[in-house]
Order: sequence, then structure tokens, then C-alpha cells
Amino acid sequence: MGHFDRRGPELHAEQVSLTRIAADVGTPCYVYSRAAIEENWRQFNAAFGDYPHRVCYAVKANSNLAILNLLARLGSGFDIVSGGELERVLRVGGDPRNIVFSGVGKSEWEIRRALDVGIGCFDVESTAELRLVNSTAASLDTAAPVAIRVNPDVDADTHPYIATGLNQAKFGIALEQALDAYRLAAEMRHVSVLGVACHIGSQITELAPFEDALERLLRLVEDLEETGIPIEHVDVGGGLGVRYRDEQPPSAREYVSALIEGMCKRGFDLPITIEPGRSIVGSAGVMLTRVEYVKRTPVKQFAVVDAGMNDLIRPALYAAWHDILPVALSATGSTQRYDVVGPVCETADVLGQDRVLDVAQGDLLAVCTVGAYGWVLSSNYNSRPRPAEVMVDGDQFYLIRNRETMDEMCAAESILPE
Ligand code: LLP
Repeated sequence: MGHFDRRGPELHAEQVSLTRIAADVGTPCYVYSRAAIEENWRQFNAAFGDYPHRVCYAVKANSNLAILNLLARLGSGFDIVSGGELERVLRVGGDPRNIVFSGVGKSEWEIRRALDVGIGCFDVESTAELRLVNSTAASLDTAAPVAIRVNPDVDADTHPYIATGLNQAKFGIALEQALDAYRLAAEMRHVSVLGVACHIGSQITELAPFEDALERLLRLVEDLEETGIPIEHVDVGGGLGVRYRDEQPPSAREYVSALIEGMCKRGFDLPITIEPGRSIVGSAGVMLTRVEYVKRTPVKQFAVVDAGMNDLIRPALYAAWHDILPVALSATGSTQRYDVVGPVCETADVLGQDRVLDVAQGDLLAVCTVGAYGWVLSSNYNSRPRPAEVMVDGDQFYLIRNRETMDEMCAAESILPE
């Protein structure tokens, strides 16, 4: 796992033992590696070499302020989908000019706030949104920088819940309607057309869908140029997969090279924006959880742990597979098959099925590759306080989000007067 390795029997994050973190912070708890996050971001950035580009980290993958701040310090741009994500990026010193704002349902206040702070580009997903962006910009006496997110109708061969580039999806403007949308945009006084954008899905482990999408985008750019609408950048979205089990996704270098080649092949040298989320933080995080009970039924064995689907919903929601490792290897070496389940009152509350493990009550487990879409999808279901988050940096570790307290969990609620 790179930055999560065993030193002797003990799993470490960089140079810090995960047992030590669990003893200090408690469980469940997410642990991230600073080095892993920075290395992943730098690989994308370096792969472009001199080619003009912008790496806009997709904030939704993990929006902890410490992570955003580390990326801002590296000079990352950000892909946001809400006013809340915008505030987070601004709070950690991200440069608004390097923000792209995606999403099918931007509200007027979100558009206004984004214009106020001077964001780099709106990735507009419908003509109705285009009109609202234009009128909001007019009321502020400014011009909104926009790209139109087109739906290239390519099959990214990923889980149906995270495929976004098929013509059935709610995302983007269909390719065949794109030219008209651009003509409309070009006539608007308070919109300045900068780019074309797409995003075809997530956890994509082949290059071909990205290459197809880019080619379709560039054909549109050709048509636009003929129509007299020049394009200044191409945003290909995010979506590069990571290895959860045995997937072999292309490296950042292979992915970026394919994009640059695709550009050159059609005679373009337009700046490229990418919006990677999972591939920057996914491999950089584990979730620590403790075995509360080992339970044997006539047909199964369960390791009941203290993290549930409210802490990590990916297995329940997408049937996602995450490796589950004992933090300390035991000397007995006698393994058995367990379903690793949480305490939530739902049959779907399973973190891993049929895992071969050597575990006992009180043991610590690490659920792997949960840096992306882990904590951010957590909830208070069953009134469970959301887990703590820790960042490891070399031989140090820092609490970057405290375990939610009971007071915090109830703070926003109030009861009716007598
Ligand atoms: N850009 C846009 C417009 C997006 O919608 C997304 C992800 C990204 C970039 C980043 O994609 P990435 O590089 O992370 O694949 N919760 C799901 C994933 C949902 C992805 C949504 N959009 C999961 O846990 O698998």
C-alpha cells in the first residue's frame, strides 16, 4: 500500500504505528498519509511537464480542511460542486481563480457567491443554468466565465451509480444540443465562453473511455471554432480509478500522456484541466476499527466491529470491496472466514464479506483505501457520532477532525416550547 506498510507485525502509516493512533484517538477513526496525498497530486502535475494544464482536485472526494490546505499549498486548483465546498477552499487559502464549479443544480446564491469571489470557471450543465448564470452576473455587473459540460455519451464501464457520461444521465448537455447551447452562451452579454468540459464517471480503470470522450469533445471544439466561438481550455473531468482489489488502473503518467496525445492527434494544444478526486486521496487513507465481538451462528461467523455503514457507506451503497487487514499480526496464524459487520441496525451494514482473518475480540482492523468518499459520506445514522480524522506526517500525527461529541451531534436541533 505504499505509505501504509508493516514494520514487524505492526501496520504503520508512514512512521507512525496505527495501534498508537487508535490508543490515542480511539476508534473508529480515519487515518491519512500526507506523503501519499502529496505524491499522488504531484504525479498528475509532473506528468504534464511543460504542457499547459490545471489539476483541480475534486473536493467532494475528501473535503477535510487539512487536506484541502495541503493541496492549496502545492498550488492545486479545485473542482467544487456546492457553495459549501467553495467556502472550504476559500478558508484554506485556495486561489478562487483556480476553481471550477460543476454540478447540475447550482442555486442562485451559490452562483452569486462564486462570482463575488471571482472563481475561474462555471461548468454549466443546462441552458436554464446558463440563463441564471447570465442574469446573476448581470446583476453584479460582471461577466461569468463558463465552460459547457457536455455529455459525450461514452460508456465508462463502471458501477451504474457512478457512471455519469451516458446519455441516460442527468449530467451535462447532450453533444447534439451543445452547439446550440454555445450559440446561446455566445450571445449573452454577461457570460464569457472559455471552455468545454465533461466528466464521464468514476473508478474508471481503462484509458479508452477517456480517449473517446476527449475525441468527441475536440470534434465539438472544431465545430465551435468554425462557428466563430473560440475555446480556451478543455476540462476532461476526473474519474481515474484506483486499486481496491485487483484492478490495474493506468498510472497518472499514462493517463495524462493519453490526454496530451489525444490533443496533439487532432492538432490542438489547448490547456487541459483535470479534476481527479479518488486517485489523489483514495489510496491515502485507512479507517481503523476495533472488533467488539466475535459471533458464531450455525451458518456464519461475524466479526462485529465498532465502525458501521454510517462511518463508511461504500460497501453498503456500491457493493464496494475494501481490503480489511489486522493492524497487528497475531502469532497464532490461525485464520477463519468472517463477515465483518458494523453495529448499525441494517442488514446492509457489512464492511466486508467472507474475509479470511485471524481476529479476536479487541483486535484492531484497518479498512483500506478509504481516503476518497469515506468520511465525506458518513452520517449520524443510528445517532452515531461521526468518526475522528488523523493526518500522519512522517513520525508525527495530527488530529484534523475530532470525533464528534454528543453535544455537537445535537447542537443544531431544538425542541418545541412547552
Ligand atoms: N468532476 C466531477 C464533475 C465529478 O462529478 C466527480 C465525481 C469528479 C470530478 C471526481 O471524480 P473521481 O476522480 O473522484 O473519480 N461516491 C462515489 C463516487 C462519486 C463520484 C462523483 N463525481 C464512490 O464512492 O465511488
